[in-house]
Amino acid sequence: MEDSIEIILQDRGRVLSTSRPHPVLSTCVGALLTGVYGVWSLFALPGFRKIPWSLKVPYLPSSKDQTLNIMKLLEGRTGRLADLGSGDGRVVLAASAAGLQCTGFEINGILVAYARSKAHWKGVPSNQATFIKKDFWKTDLSAYNNVTAFLAPGVMELLGEKLLKELPDDARVIACRFPFSNWPQQSSVGSGLDQTFAYDISSVRSHLRKVSNTVG
Ligand SMILES: C[S@@+](CC[C@H](N)C(=O)[O-])C[C@H]1O[C@@H](n2cnc3c(N)ncnc32)[C@H](O)[C@@H]1O
Repeated sequence: MEDSIEIILQDRGRVLSTSRPHPVLSTCVGALLTGVYGVWSLFALPGFRKIPWSLKVPYLPSSKDQTLNIMKLLEGRTGRLADLGSGDGRVVLAASAAGLQCTGFEINGILVAYARSKAHWKGVPSNQATFIKKDFWKTDLSAYNNVTAFLAPGVMELLGEKLLKELPDDARVIACRFPFSNWPQQSSVGSGLDQTFAYDISSVRSHLRKVSNTVG
């Protein structure tokens, strides 16, 4: 019996020692993963050092459907549009093609450069689509009557407070994927991850006034 247990243990040891990954392979996999993370962070993270952890929103481009949904909710709108966190510029370029004067605020300098070169290749004049490397939390948005935001659930409450303070009464806000929890929606288009919500600031203000009168 003892003999057979020893033999089993010896066999296991042999199996384990032969199945251990080769050190060169482990090094290569480690180097590859570090490289992938490096490239990802190059595109997703620059400019974030000065932003508090709770307000960091990484880069994730809008899907085609999401962009189309935004454009449906902007139908008939004129004037100026700010895209908060404009990424590679796809929303700004789509909205400028519909006649809006658009500005994309983006903290990641690589994405700003890429969006500018895309606008240049497409021959979009800079008074129709401008990309500014700037933290939108530190930007006064009172000159914009259209705002688009595809950000993160954790920042929507604070963003709502900022927009209510700064935007003119005739402004429309389009929120992608993540709605404002205490704002009444004007309309929404799409479903699931592509769902997009429109809010008219005058209606939001009068709704919130009514709520605070009822509570107070
Ligand atoms: C989810 S992506 C959306 C990109 C683009 N709007 C789109 O729909 O394809 C959010 C973007 O916001 C940018 N961002 C996050 N915080 C920012 C800030 N405080 N100021 C400017 N840009 C910011 C990120 O770098 C990222 O590109």
